[in-house]
Amino acid sequence: MCGIVGYVGELACGEVLLDGLSRLEYRGYDSAGIAIWDGESIRRVRAEGKLFNLDRRFRENPIEGSIGIGHTRWATHGAPVERNAHPHRVDDVVLVHNGIIENHTALRQELEAEGRVFESDTDTEVLAHLVARERAAGHDLLHAVRRATGHVRGSWAVVVLDAHSPDELVAARHASPLVIGLGSGENFAASDVPAILRHTRRMIFLEDGDTVRLTRTAVEITAEDGSRVERTPKAITWDPVAAEKQGYKHFMLKEIHEQGDRIVDTLRGRILLDEDEVTLPSLATLEGIVPSLRRIVILACGTSWHAGLVGRYAIGGLARLPVEVELASEFRYRNPVMDGETLAIAISQSGETADTLAAIEEAKRLGARTMTICNVMESSMTRAVEATLYTHAGPEIGVASTKAYTTQLSALLLLALWLGQLRGTIPAAERQATIRSLRALPRQIEEMLGDEALIREVGREYMHARSMLFLGRGNEFPTALEGALKLKEISYIHAEGYAAGEMKHGPIALIDEELPVVVVAPRNRLLEKTMSNLEEVRARGGRVIAVGDRSVSELERHADHVLHVPSTTEWVQPILSVIPLQLFAYAIADLRGTDVDQPRNLAKSVTVE
Ligand code: G6P
Repeated sequence: MCGIVGYVGELACGEVLLDGLSRLEYRGYDSAGIAIWDGESIRRVRAEGKLFNLDRRFRENPIEGSIGIGHTRWATHGAPVERNAHPHRVDDVVLVHNGIIENHTALRQELEAEGRVFESDTDTEVLAHLVARERAAGHDLLHAVRRATGHVRGSWAVVVLDAHSPDELVAARHASPLVIGLGSGENFAASDVPAILRHTRRMIFLEDGDTVRLTRTAVEITAEDGSRVERTPKAITWDPVAAEKQGYKHFMLKEIHEQGDRIVDTLRGRILLDEDEVTLPSLATLEGIVPSLRRIVILACGTSWHAGLVGRYAIGGLARLPVEVELASEFRYRNPVMDGETLAIAISQSGETADTLAAIEEAKRLGARTMTICNVMESSMTRAVEATLYTHAGPEIGVASTKAYTTQLSALLLLALWLGQLRGTIPAAERQATIRSLRALPRQIEEMLGDEALIREVGREYMHARSMLFLGRGNEFPTALEGALKLKEISYIHAEGYAAGEMKHGPIALIDEELPVVVVAPRNRLLEKTMSNLEEVRARGGRVIAVGDRSVSELERHADHVLHVPSTTEWVQPILSVIPLQLFAYAIADLRGTDVDQPRNLAKSVTVE
């Protein structure tokens, strides 16, 4: 969602801000703006739509200066038009904000009653007025921001610049991420690491309640209670190149191709080679409760929820534990039953999804033990739980999740094996076979990626479909859901995922030659059952694209096309089965010419409810 960049230093600020914002584009946005102190006043330029609109306006009327703030906005309160774009200006104060001011209506009324005039429909402008009011009362900028945020409820990451103190930026965080980048003779603020990674790798991840004063040479942090605090900088180890396209047409395609390597990164150090055993030191604090665990509840949204659904089969099968998988947005409002013998697992690529965060907090409040499977270091999710099992997908930029999903599946399988080991529920042979097939994944993925051109040709045949149905059984049912999600989010073709066994209870009515049906049918113990469903589709004139092992001759006979997926063991199979579906969705979206990496209306990290 929204992105923030702030800069104070010696470089041409406009370039730093525009470059930083371009590296946050992937988060999803619909307008953008920057504000820079030019030596006499703060000048602001904003534009609807993509960053090139802002960039063009800036080039037409460049602003010289070396302190400023920038923002990409994903509309929540008020349409994505220029007057709602950030930075918002009130008197001499300009401000950018991520998050939501929940009590903005009451505050707006109060401020209007004082004679203040609003220019936008946003909740953010309230905050700008509050800071301006505190400045007018004589408080320095840091205290003005602290006092202003004291009036608001909700979530915020803000960065503020004031024409009366143009050597400093003040930033504050509450429930919305903000990172400070430390340079030499320059300092940065950003909502997300990639925005400033080309300038520095030394970063301070702020805590909730922190307010920071940034000048060229100093970073002073004040904690919630008003005391000055030092926060230890962290070194970011990933390479900025990881967040670039490296010759691929889209980030999504690059990320599909990276999956073998990122799975290796996720497995690395977690499998003891000699013993075919799993070791998860980062979960040591939870080890003691494993024998007495009675239940696991997985909380997630979107693709991460699909990963949880796959994990349910593996954890149930290998660790013999009941697993519930719940959409975080539903869980948080239904007064769920939790206790100390329940382990709640939040799955989140970004670690910032508002619903998942609220759900895991709710599970904690109700007494559950907590952990997360997460891809982003120091994210809010990792701070909210007792233990973290990191996926090592690296930065995922394409909005449609691919490598985050397959690394989540790999991490979940490690977790299932670890739980099973501790509980003594896995036969040694099954553990060894599963671990061996995990190790074989990179080679198999490489082989599958060789089919990219073939899959594109199949995609070409179906690129004009109005709707598609995806079917799968057992632990491939979530694969069908994920395949449908991939297609709809990037190609805008309606798609629905269904449990193959449920087809007769509804979707069968839709089947005709106009509705392509994708059947996930790898070689597994349910293949025969899935084949029956495939034939039911064919019998009604439906066109079938099967995802399966080409060596199964029946598949070739009964399906119009087979997208090949090599065979492996039961729990590992869904990690492979999804890959042809990612390529299929990608091919169709690219052929249709959609904005693959930033599909309309979607955001990479959904930080609002
Ligand atoms: C958004 C993204 C999805 C993602 C979901 C959950 O909808 O576009 O790709 O699966 O949020 O995000 P999380 O970061 O919690 O995994």
